Amino acid sequence: MVDAETIANAGFKLSVDKIKNFEVRPDDIFLLTFPKSGTTWMKEILPLVMNGGDIDAITGTSRDVLVPYLEFQLSADDDPIMREVQKQMLIPDGFALDQLQSPRLLVSHLRSEFLPRAIEEKRVKVIYVARNPKDIAISSHYFVKAVQLCGIVDSNEPSQAKAYQDFSEFFPEFLVMKGIAQIVHYHGTRWHEHVLPWWERRHDRNVLFLKYEDMIQDLKACVRQIAKFMDVRLTDGAVDKIRDHCSFQSMKNNKMALKNTYCTNVLGVKAEEGSPFVRVGGVGLWKNTLTVAQNETFNEIYQEWIKGSDLEMTFEL
Ligand code: A3P
Repeated sequence: MVDAETIANAGFKLSVDKIKNFEVRPDDIFLLTFPKSGTTWMKEILPLVMNGGDIDAITGTSRDVLVPYLEFQLSADDDPIMREVQKQMLIPDGFALDQLQSPRLLVSHLRSEFLPRAIEEKRVKVIYVARNPKDIAISSHYFVKAVQLCGIVDSNEPSQAKAYQDFSEFFPEFLVMKGIAQIVHYHGTRWHEHVLPWWERRHDRNVLFLKYEDMIQDLKACVRQIAKFMDVRLTDGAVDKIRDHCSFQSMKNNKMALKNTYCTNVLGVKAEEGSPFVRVGGVGLWKNTLTVAQNETFNEIYQEWIKGSDLEMTFEL
């Protein structure tokens, strides 16, 4: 839960001031997402767009080095446990954000009011990816079931000790961001609190607002849009290469994207469940899980969430 000074989440505690005062460079590019919206996918795409589609140049490098998490990295500066976690993310010892060459690619799941002040002040580039919240709920439930959350789940706390095997145990907590949902979704941020501020700024010159569902429908067009936004010229061949390398099937066989070491040693993912970072992918997966009643409840709450906004998400294709 957020208090005035700290943000606590699965595995770290971080001072709000420290993030707010983070030194942003004018040419930084921030990837911002609500968890389970396609962050891993975008972390594969962005370095390739930046380097003109040179796949060899990123082979063997952790995606958490190519596009580091702002909040993980800042908490690792002070927290030896987080530094240990970073080893499992295949981040080398001594890695620091201020040593990265410009332009830096950085990623964060934090909602807008907790981000560094200078993002707004310096109008740095922000790429925001939104995904429909029904599929996010399914993806989050899978995540909760698959991971043991590095011991942060307190078995003395009734809401956390639940097995969450059934979606109906997780669903009410996801809607209000309590219990386990609050832990995996960063201090209880609800979907609309994350997405809407960026939707409202989608016409700003420094903001590119993308939808996961559009990436599913036409990845090539999205890669071109990203390249234009990043001021990178890509040949047609490079766009094709990036599209092929970042296809779901290709990423399913990409150890760096799957984050196998981190999944096994930090999240404690059960082997039979596979990586939650590249799992099934697609649009409308919720239809296999949500009951009619759950769907009606979701629709009602969703209408409340987006009241007054003209944002339209795609829930099925
Ligand atoms: P599912 O759990 O619905 O399969 P994040 O990286 O933000 O945690 O998001 C993870 C979600 O993005 C997972 O969704 C994962 O399968 C999906 N994803 C990852 N790579 C993808 C790709 N190349 N194409 C489509 N979806 C992808």
